[in-house]
Amino acid sequence: MKKQKIIISGDLKVSLKEAIDACPHDKIFILTDTVTLQLCKPVIDSFEFLEDACYITIGATDVHKTIESLIHVWTELGDKGGSRKSLLINLGGGMITDLGGFAASTFKRGIQYINIPTTLLSMVDAAVGGKTGINFNGLKNEIGVFNPASSVLLDTLFLRTLDYANICSGYAEMLKHGLISTTEHWSDLLQFDLNEVDYAQLQELVAHSVHIKEQIVEQDPYEQSIRKALNLGHTVGHAFESLALAQNRPVLHGYAVAWGCICELYLSATKVGFPMDKLRQTIQFIKESYGQFIITCKEYDQLYEFMKHDKKNSSGIINFTLLGEIGDIRINQTATKEEIFEMFDFFREG
Ligand code: GLY
Repeated sequence: MKKQKIIISGDLKVSLKEAIDACPHDKIFILTDTVTLQLCKPVIDSFEFLEDACYITIGATDVHKTIESLIHVWTELGDKGGSRKSLLINLGGGMITDLGGFAASTFKRGIQYINIPTTLLSMVDAAVGGKTGINFNGLKNEIGVFNPASSVLLDTLFLRTLDYANICSGYAEMLKHGLISTTEHWSDLLQFDLNEVDYAQLQELVAHSVHIKEQIVEQDPYEQSIRKALNLGHTVGHAFESLALAQNRPVLHGYAVAWGCICELYLSATKVGFPMDKLRQTIQFIKESYGQFIITCKEYDQLYEFMKHDKKNSSGIINFTLLGEIGDIRINQTATKEEIFEMFDFFREG
């Protein structure tokens, strides 16, 4: 997989010009959703090199990550003179960078694209690493390809438009990157004050976080081995997310991942010796920042079923990424149904 350029932007205009100049093109298209059209387009509107760019807009949030939105993007690209040499700029959160990346990867067998993630979640996860796609047939990210953006521009000026919940949501993926990397980075993350965000410090933490993901993706772009480290917290997290959705009390992805990390670190402690003091410190940070996800023992079976049917698993075997220590990654771990139910007991009571 070709390497994508990650640009930690201090000046969006300069960085974007540099990214565009690195992609010879005949026409620029910019993909937004209805929210980023209002909140983020004004930030780039005055850039003279985007004067002739053609905007394409789709509905906001994950419910629009559909084949219909994708058809709309393909149609607009075709009707408005897109060619194999055109360039697509995705301006938005993970939904836009995933769907836009897939549209670009398939239009006329593939055109170049640049991601400008505008949420913390997409900056540290979705926009980086070349996973693109849409939801299909009721399943998340069911259809897609691995194909990296030419450049990903990270500019924390967009984070100033985010509320506390969306900062926390993205921060959960950063916490995960801390857990799979070094004690020093994990400790820096636990000391950060999410209630009073220091944006300069956040920019530094984001840069470090993305670097961790970049290094892992570089070693294993197609998730055959070490990229599975990025699934820490997600085996349980996705089940929490699905349960919440089924019960009409949806939660933000990062919240589910943070709660999933509590469970999977508990399994790590019981099965592969993750230190109890670090488990306790991480849980304390997560509980203070994300609150508690309420489950009862009546829901254990349903959670277990969600986990069995996650697309990362096959033949009914539930696959976990666990940690023997911070940075000591153990992929392809399994647990019995009893161990998983005990883990849920701990989550409720711990
Ligand atoms: N979101 C996890 C990954 O990119 O592999």
